[in-house]
Amino acid sequence: MSLLLDAAAQDLLFREARTANTFTDEPVTDEQVRAIYDLVKYGPTSMNQSPLRVTLVRSPEARERLVQHLAEGNRSKTAAAPLVAILSADNEFHEELPQLFPHFPQAKDAVFGERPVREGSAALNAALQAAYFIIGVRAAGLAAGPMTGLDFEGLRKEFLDDDHTPLMVVNIGRPGPDAWFPRSPRLEFEQVVTTV
Ligand SMILES: Cc1cc2nc3c(=O)[nH]c(=O)nc-3n(C[C@H](O)[C@H](O)[C@H](O)COP(=O)(O)O)c2cc1C
Repeated sequence: MSLLLDAAAQDLLFREARTANTFTDEPVTDEQVRAIYDLVKYGPTSMNQSPLRVTLVRSPEARERLVQHLAEGNRSKTAAAPLVAILSADNEFHEELPQLFPHFPQAKDAVFGERPVREGSAALNAALQAAYFIIGVRAAGLAAGPMTGLDFEGLRKEFLDDDHTPLMVVNIGRPGPDAWFPRSPRLEFEQVVTTV
């Protein structure tokens, strides 16, 4: 009753949405990915810095190179997923700040002039955007399978560069047979929320 979002959308995004481990063969198109990005790009980040970068792994050759950096238990489902995305943080996001935060263009150097500051900020804000991305995948009627069971340095060297820090790999598609384990319990409100 307290939520404005209708119940069907609540189910689609959260209650019925699950982390998929198997997928059908139905392709995930570039148009779907564009629609997802064009929705979730509005999720907030510090000073609108928007450090998330997305690498779509489509070719069989690239998929093979990706899978070798994943933990054993993540390999077969990633090899078979219709689409896989590498989500990373751009540690040089400040180059775009004059465009993204035009009322304070000096922030590029005054706030984010030092690389360690940028790396900390990019890690937090790209992780937030990764969460928006997962919810966006669900909004497209698809299921996401995010994974951090992988060799991050190997993945970075294989697909990225020194300026990009990989965050996770996300399998995307329509859930296939036996797509998930039984739902695990969540913490209750009283376990999580305190008021001071
Ligand atoms: C950042 C992140 C990393 C994850 N890494 C893995 C992984 O490496 N392998 C895996 O099988 N599941 C992984 N998961 C899936 C979680 O275990 C799953 O989302 C969680 O148990 C909730 O499942 P549910 O959405 O079906 O309720 C990951 C999820 C997230 C969000």
